[in-house]
Amino acid sequence: MGIRIRGVGSYVPERVLTNADLEKMVDTSDEWIVTRTGIRQRHIAAPEQACSDIAAGAAKAALANCGMDATELDLIIVSTISPDMAIPSTAALVQHKIGAKCPAFDVEAACTGLLYNMNIAYGMMSAPKLGFRRVMIIGAEKITSLIDWTDRGTCVLFGDGASAVILENDGDPDTPDFLVGSLLGADGQYGSLLCVPAGGSAMPASAETVAKRLHYVSMQGGKTFQLAVISMTRSCQLVLREAGVTMDQVRWAIPHQANDRIIDAVATRLKAEDKVFRNIENYGNTSSASIGIALDELNRKGLLARGDYILTTAFGAGLTWGAVLIRW
Ligand code: ACO
Repeated sequence: MGIRIRGVGSYVPERVLTNADLEKMVDTSDEWIVTRTGIRQRHIAAPEQACSDIAAGAAKAALANCGMDATELDLIIVSTISPDMAIPSTAALVQHKIGAKCPAFDVEAACTGLLYNMNIAYGMMSAPKLGFRRVMIIGAEKITSLIDWTDRGTCVLFGDGASAVILENDGDPDTPDFLVGSLLGADGQYGSLLCVPAGGSAMPASAETVAKRLHYVSMQGGKTFQLAVISMTRSCQLVLREAGVTMDQVRWAIPHQANDRIIDAVATRLKAEDKVFRNIENYGNTSSASIGIALDELNRKGLLARGDYILTTAFGAGLTWGAVLIRW
């Protein structure tokens, strides 16, 4: 069939917030943040920048990366947990901002969003009657807009950013597909482990919800940590087994960048310590943007060659999780 990755791009806002800056805002220390998470700094969007602006930055970078015009796109799918508004979709706003003319919709699968998007795009592109030849998938977050800057348990963890991947079905049966194997999961019984309690239909915004600070990310970090390690490890093992690919054949493992200690635990269990890519120290947890930012960084550094196997894996609110084995 020949669905391949044509272009990759990413964007992070200019402003950097360091651990030293956070020391002045909440009762924390650079030492605690670095040893418990691996994060040294994160990028923070300007007040006037919405999620769609950050997403459009990544989209334009991906288009430039492969010399494509936005009008050539057949579909845009944005994954985000920090949309511009509840209505309309952020994807529709991005479509307009980059000058595309195609259909567009949002997906909400938190940090696993880009992997969900890869699956959705692959499925839609595999049905020739639907006519989706060139699809842009985006993971974009202005997650710092959902952060309580008085809560040291969460405010040190997250950063803003976006990544975009352009997929193309070239119709050539000899072109290998980018998606070699995939597994996605979700378990809503853990929904309350990581959530923004108010502002949706379950608890609409009111003076009371604002006073009680219920519009911010609330998280049970320890339990999330445990489930992250189990779900990412298991997803990777199953995807590799199903694809008949061994870890020795994998060039890069890109785990969702949530915490260095989670990455260490997954890498050890997969015996993939020497293949794991990390950039969490510079960005923090950018949720659905993180895997694409890593992919773009590897590409820009010239660290990817055609045919390389790249094992991506993520977990996030929902809970959701998954792994996608990519052939570059
Ligand atoms: N600075 C200093 N001390 C802190 C801070 C901080 N920023 N945050 C918490 N502490 C304190 C706690 O109050 C606690 O103190 P106590 O022992 O006196 O009660 C102590 O540090 C230990 O707290 P723990 O929560 O046990 O620390 P832990 O080692 O578990 O690390 C962390 C916490 C970093 C949140 C970790 O649990 C984690 O990374 N969990 C996964 C979270 C995650 O990945 N979430 C994102 C999911 S992706 C998505 O969907 C958006």
